[in-house]
Amino acid sequence: MFEKVIWMFYTRIKQFFSAINSTINSKDQHFILLYLNLKEQKLFFDMDVPTQKHCLNVAYTCWELLQNHPKINKEVLLKAALLHDCGKKAGEVTTLHRVAIVLSQAFMPNFAKKMIQQGQTKSAGTLSNAFYIQSIHSNRGAKIAKKAQVPASIITLIEQHHDHLNKNAPMELILLQQADNAN
Ligand SMILES: [Fe+2]
Ligand SMILES: [Fe+2]
Repeated sequence: MFEKVIWMFYTRIKQFFSAINSTINSKDQHFILLYLNLKEQKLFFDMDVPTQKHCLNVAYTCWELLQNHPKINKEVLLKAALLHDCGKKAGEVTTLHRVAIVLSQAFMPNFAKKMIQQGQTKSAGTLSNAFYIQSIHSNRGAKIAKKAQVPASIITLIEQHHDHLNKNAPMELILLQQADNAN
């Protein structure tokens, strides 16, 4: 348990510093154009740059994990990785919001619950709304992806990317969560 908390903080600190310096380079651009069609690219670029970079890093980790899983549908997993956080649009959950959310959830869970409730009716960009968006982003992302006619298999992965894994969980979801947790 203690190791898990330490690992979570290590990952969040790493995320924080990479978010501050995040830019999309030409290698990233090439990867996005290779795996996402125009409608999917719109979903990708509707996220802020730190979230775009996070999704790219999740996709690159998935790419590495795929080397040991040749039977998995590469297109499905990489598209899902690139789009998995599309339920958080630019300006809604900033890097500082993310720090506040992670710390509150770890040390003040009741406060976090209150913020989620309050945030439902608050405008985008406020701290409480960021708590709310963070809490619903998997389901919201699945709805946004459905509207953009993303294939059903990818929508399911977006919807379940924070769900508890049961013993029947598909390998694509296991790898997506593994890559998400590492980035
Ligand atoms: Fe997420
Ligand atoms: Fe993520």
